[in-house]
Amino acid sequence: MTRAASSASRIGIVGLGMHVPSKVLTNFDLEKMVETSDEWIRTRTGIRERRIAEPGTTTSDLACEAARHALKNAGLSANDIDLLIVATTSPDMLFPSTACLIQSRLGAKDAVCFDVSAACSGSVFAMVTAQQYLEAGRYKRALVIGAEILSSFIDWTDRSTCVLFGDGAGACVMTKVSRGGILATDMGSDGSAAELLYMPGGGSKYPPSHASVDQRLHFLRMNGTEIFKLAVRRMAESAQTVVTRARLKPEDVDWFIPHQANIRIIQAVAKRADIPMEKVFINVERYGNTSAASNLIALYEATQNGPVKRGDRVVLVAFGAGLTWGSVLLQW
Ligand code: UT7
Repeated sequence: MTRAASSASRIGIVGLGMHVPSKVLTNFDLEKMVETSDEWIRTRTGIRERRIAEPGTTTSDLACEAARHALKNAGLSANDIDLLIVATTSPDMLFPSTACLIQSRLGAKDAVCFDVSAACSGSVFAMVTAQQYLEAGRYKRALVIGAEILSSFIDWTDRSTCVLFGDGAGACVMTKVSRGGILATDMGSDGSAAELLYMPGGGSKYPPSHASVDQRLHFLRMNGTEIFKLAVRRMAESAQTVVTRARLKPEDVDWFIPHQANIRIIQAVAKRADIPMEKVFINVERYGNTSAASNLIALYEATQNGPVKRGDRVVLVAFGAGLTWGSVLLQW
């Protein structure tokens, strides 16, 4: 990724939206399900509660709500969108893409639609993808959505993973802006560590079968300790990379909005990248890790009722399965 174009042709966000299910699952609820405690979850992760979709709710249900919200805030309708990108690890079905299902439900008939698979880095990867198409002039207005119902793929008997994740969706409308916008981006991947965080079943390797279900292959699996270390290293490096690419210094950035996986990861990233915690936006305590939705939900909350003001420089930084990582530095 290179530095973004001059301010006259920068790509920026003109509307944001989010939606989470109404059902709250607290740490105390989890105490009744697995051998865990509110104290362990709070001190090891910073999470107090997360939202969980009711059975029958789909990822596109949450995504459509967040998308309508973002379109309304942008003062646009679905007809105005010509590029629709959805980042998700929990699509409604293997195919067609969740983006196409959302297109039909929103009536975004002129949009080209596809999904991005980058796990928890999904919103950042989708935003960078949209930025590239918009900057090239191929499309004019993009709707980017990060949406997950990861609760469908969580082993609710595995205490090491089931306490971490939550459901939700965030969305943004991107187009050319006359001021502010994206100043620099960064993306990275390392497939050699794919099995540190993965779901083996459901694809061509282990197609659905009684055996694959019995072996619990359709649930998320994670080596938490290794993921923790790599998340800290990669997010700190990526945040520093975008700041350097924009020819700025860390102190020139007003807000860091990291992927909300674990407060201890966020604190370690801040320490390593020399970012004071007062400049870090955190909402992990209320939503847990919403994977591809995480950065967009956090950006929504940080800008709508939160501390980010017009003109502030903001770094979004993400890390996820793949492995994948990336950052977007934008001026709000
Ligand atoms: O977006 C990327 C997605 N993933 C992540 O970001 C997760 C990254 N990893 C983490 O956040 C942390 O590694 C965890 C929160 C998953 C675990 O924290 P930790 O400090 O690394 O704990 P640990 O795995 O070293 O486990 C410590 C102990 C173990 O017991 P023993 O072996 O010391 O007796 C675990 O069995 O804590 C136990 N444990 C639990 N105890 C109570 C693990 N999960 C739980 C639990 N409740 N929910």
